[in-house]
Amino acid sequence: MSNTQHAHWSSRLTFILAATGSAVGLGNIWKFPYMVGDSGGAAFVLIYLLCIGLVGLPILVAEWLVGRRGQKNPANSMADLARSAGASRSWMIVGISGILGAFLILSFYSVIGGWSLYYTLSSVTGAFSGQDADGISALFTGMLASPGLLLAGHSVFMLLVIGIVARGVTKGLEGAVRSLMPALGVLLVVLVGYGMTTGYFGEALGFMFNPDFGKVDGSVVLAAMGQAFFTLSLGMGIMMAYGSYLNEEINLLKTARTVIILDTLVALVSGLAIFPIVFANGLDLSSGPGLIFVTLPLAFGNMGGGVILSLMFFLLLTFAALTSAISLLEPVVEFVEERTPLSRIASTLVAGAATWALGIAALLAFNVWGDVLVFGLNIFDLLDTVTSKFLLPLTGLMAIIFVAWVLDRDSVRRELGLGETGAMVWSVVSRFIAPIGVIAVFVSSL
Ligand code: PFF
Ligand code: NA
Repeated sequence: MSNTQHAHWSSRLTFILAATGSAVGLGNIWKFPYMVGDSGGAAFVLIYLLCIGLVGLPILVAEWLVGRRGQKNPANSMADLARSAGASRSWMIVGISGILGAFLILSFYSVIGGWSLYYTLSSVTGAFSGQDADGISALFTGMLASPGLLLAGHSVFMLLVIGIVARGVTKGLEGAVRSLMPALGVLLVVLVGYGMTTGYFGEALGFMFNPDFGKVDGSVVLAAMGQAFFTLSLGMGIMMAYGSYLNEEINLLKTARTVIILDTLVALVSGLAIFPIVFANGLDLSSGPGLIFVTLPLAFGNMGGGVILSLMFFLLLTFAALTSAISLLEPVVEFVEERTPLSRIASTLVAGAATWALGIAALLAFNVWGDVLVFGLNIFDLLDTVTSKFLLPLTGLMAIIFVAWVLDRDSVRRELGLGETGAMVWSVVSRFIAPIGVIAVFVSSL
């Protein structure tokens, strides 16, 4: 083991920033607003909040608890905790599958980070200005058709991620989130401010917050549950790795509440930034990457101040992707660092290079390897499907089962500072409600 002195977050605030940085990503800026509008407005928000409280929060707390008790990478933390609870060391597999999930996700997440970088640059060069719908579409499809362009974006993005993570937890991760997260907040507020001037802010509010219980059915509830899981970056070893740098004093339940409120706030406010622009320009509300990479640039290219607004929007997206990406690399690096004689920097280079290489396969799926199909999916979609449909839910499920059923209940109750009633609620939620919720999503997505 190369590090005798395991690093720790320097304050509760920087830990909150880092965890929120991981949580806030495309899921908030693009997916959540769309789901709200499509699935019953305030009715969906209500269901989502229930899911986040009953499934997201307990799993978040469980992952942090495992990391903090273990003080090691997710695999070793799980193994150590299992052994001292008298359970099988093979619980380690939960940690390994989380790390594997993080590695696989980062490989294609970085490709999208590269798109975001390219669009940031395109905003500055005025590439969207005066374009019609065909021109903007051509920009997007042209990017996807060009292996060189995608490779450049992916490589620069991975270099940024590697550069931050190599510097370690306090200098690298904390240093990055300390400036990126406030910047993200400011950009979001300015974009909402612009939305208020369009005259379509009220329409956006109505779209997102009019409760329409008629639209709520089983599939909407499942979608809300899946989103609660994804939005908090659960089931990929991230929160276990981040928890391993926590010290005793931090109250896990309170901190989880703060991170969840911030993540949800960003999701709601993102809708209030995007939808006024969509309505004001009579744009299509289509889902998929199209909304962000085709529809919005069309609006930006044809409005006053569009260059600066689009620069701010794609910077926001890039920052959000970057803070999520560093959280994806961290569990992999922590694992390599602790299981090999390599230094922090060397471990980051090894993990980063492996991710970068796999990412090349993912980006070639958009062009020269477009015909290479596995189970009917191209490499990019395969990586996405294997992780989001299988690895993440199964890993999160096993993590909550481990904490709720294998670890000593009294010690967990003490660690969470629960009284009699709190302990009862925690017991019911963590042992039954959360696992059943995950299983429901998992089974129905097959
Ligand atoms: N939590 C991020 C979001 O809501 O966009 C998405 C994400 C980040 C997923 C990091 C997975 C991940 F490892
Ligand atoms: Na999120």
